[in-house]
Amino acid sequence: MRAVVPASGSRELATRLSDELGLPLSVPEYRRFPDGEIYVRVDSTLESAVVVGNTWPNDSIIELLLLLDALSNVGAEAVTVIPYLGYGRQDRAFLPGEPVSARVVAEAVSRMSRAVVLVDPHSYLDVSYFSVKTMVATAFPGIAGRFREEGVELVLAPDKGRAREAAQVARAIGAESAYLEKRRIDAERVEMWGDVDFQGKVVGILDDIISTGGTIARAAKKARDGGAERVVVGCVHGLFVGGAREKVLPLVDVLFSSDTVMTEFTSFSAAPYVRSVLEVM
Ligand code: R5P
Repeated sequence: MRAVVPASGSRELATRLSDELGLPLSVPEYRRFPDGEIYVRVDSTLESAVVVGNTWPNDSIIELLLLLDALSNVGAEAVTVIPYLGYGRQDRAFLPGEPVSARVVAEAVSRMSRAVVLVDPHSYLDVSYFSVKTMVATAFPGIAGRFREEGVELVLAPDKGRAREAAQVARAIGAESAYLEKRRIDAERVEMWGDVDFQGKVVGILDDIISTGGTIARAAKKARDGGAERVVVGCVHGLFVGGAREKVLPLVDVLFSSDTVMTEFTSFSAAPYVRSVLEVM
């Protein structure tokens, strides 16, 4: 039997994907041992699986690896969909003595997967660390759809790294685009500058990840201070760690993310984009 097999944190996206693909959903048994260790058991009749699992937060990495090992033990081939590739931002040793964390994750997953699909990984370096066929699905068209509904007139990238996506989304909805320059001070703080005309416009700010909210809060404040009529924020991966909600919500009119990470802000699914990639793999 071929089925979509969800990790415990990716049930919603996996369910949507199973609908999209017309495949059954096979939910493994997940338990915790008294000491916190993870127990996984898959359907032993599986022959082939589309596994859907994040590598964030930390426990999900070991859960995903146990899941892949369990599938391999019953002889089931796995195509692994990683909706949110945790550790993707440590895609190189920035300072002497650091690990290349993304490579560690990629190598472990590659060992037990026939192929991999990543949804909007942070960088193309991340993709290069997988040693099996790896394709990228992008959920930014989902952001474009929501921006269109919200009447966004100016699509703003909070840094140069997302300028290309901002331009693509703007083109898709007939809006203009711009980007700000960003310098990270530390894990929570950034400084931002740039000459953008926000006056009287509905501004849609996009990003791949909202983690601490520092980036988006700075960008939203610039838009507000510059006279934006409304500020709409959309991202693919909404982690919202620490005080991100408190930081961002007072500055925005609308905040949404995809179901790669489920939160109260999830308002569109990455499933159609993942399906399109799986169909051509
Ligand atoms: C960084 O380049 C990413 O694209 C995001 O802008 C960043 O990860 C967001 O992190 P935070 O919400 O902590 O500012």
